[in-house]
Amino acid sequence: MENKIVYLNGEYLPLPEAKVSVLDRGFLFGDGIYEVIPSYSGNLFHLDDHLQRLENSLAGIRLANPHTRLEWQAILTPLLDANYDQYIYLQITRGTAAKRDHAFPENVPATVFAMCSNIVPFAGLNAGVKAISMDDTRWSLCHIKAITLLGNILHRQAAVEQDCAEALLVKDGYLIEGAASNVFAVIDGVLCTPPKTNDILPGITRDVILELAKKHNIPFCEDKILFADAQKATELWVTSSTREIVPIIELDGTDIGEGKPGPVWQTMHTILQAYKQSLL
Ligand SMILES: Cc1ncc(COP(=O)(O)O)c(C=O)c1O
Repeated sequence: MENKIVYLNGEYLPLPEAKVSVLDRGFLFGDGIYEVIPSYSGNLFHLDDHLQRLENSLAGIRLANPHTRLEWQAILTPLLDANYDQYIYLQITRGTAAKRDHAFPENVPATVFAMCSNIVPFAGLNAGVKAISMDDTRWSLCHIKAITLLGNILHRQAAVEQDCAEALLVKDGYLIEGAASNVFAVIDGVLCTPPKTNDILPGITRDVILELAKKHNIPFCEDKILFADAQKATELWVTSSTREIVPIIELDGTDIGEGKPGPVWQTMHTILQAYKQSLL
């Protein structure tokens, strides 16, 4: 692992040799964006959707996209090993300026870094996990996949310290998303998830689940979810590229539904695995 090959600014090199300046704006300001793209048996999953979100994030921070979609694919592919399920971590920052200044530097190339890691199947997947709820203390541009993740980190750490896998974030009485995941609730037999606004990261897994729900005639809606309704939901899930669909069986110490993964989760989990296979 230590000597794995990573990509940095046009070069492939061993991880320990990949270095950026301390004046890089990613280091100094968290001035950059990122993507996490899963790859199953060497096939990048929903690559176009991830690259579209990358373009949206770059536009959101007013940073020019340094590569075309074909170039991105050509850059990322050599990092993959078809023998494993993996994920690419891709980060782009506003580059290294001559001095520290909040305003954008002129004529400075972006820093582009990508590495690949194996996906370790999430331990809590089949048994379900515990979560806590917290007031969402992040900023108002959560639709941008910014590397500035301090808010998310503090939420996740609070969950971990209470022996929980995720923190569910609540704003003005509504369930928003997880610290590093989107959220779904089964309420009155309908699979619900909050709509895409600046309050949430538009998750690729979220979109895939909604497409699959439609295709398999599972009733669903994209609508605001009152936290009080989420507490009474028969099922709650969090979703992300690396953990997929994780059932929450306990929230703030109280069982969700019957306190075990529910039937809608079981159905959707099975459908998602079959869909992934169908793309290989
Ligand atoms: C805040 C947040 N919301 C949602 C997601 C899920 O997005 P995706 O399904 O594209 O991994 C993530 C992923 O890390 C996240 O950090």
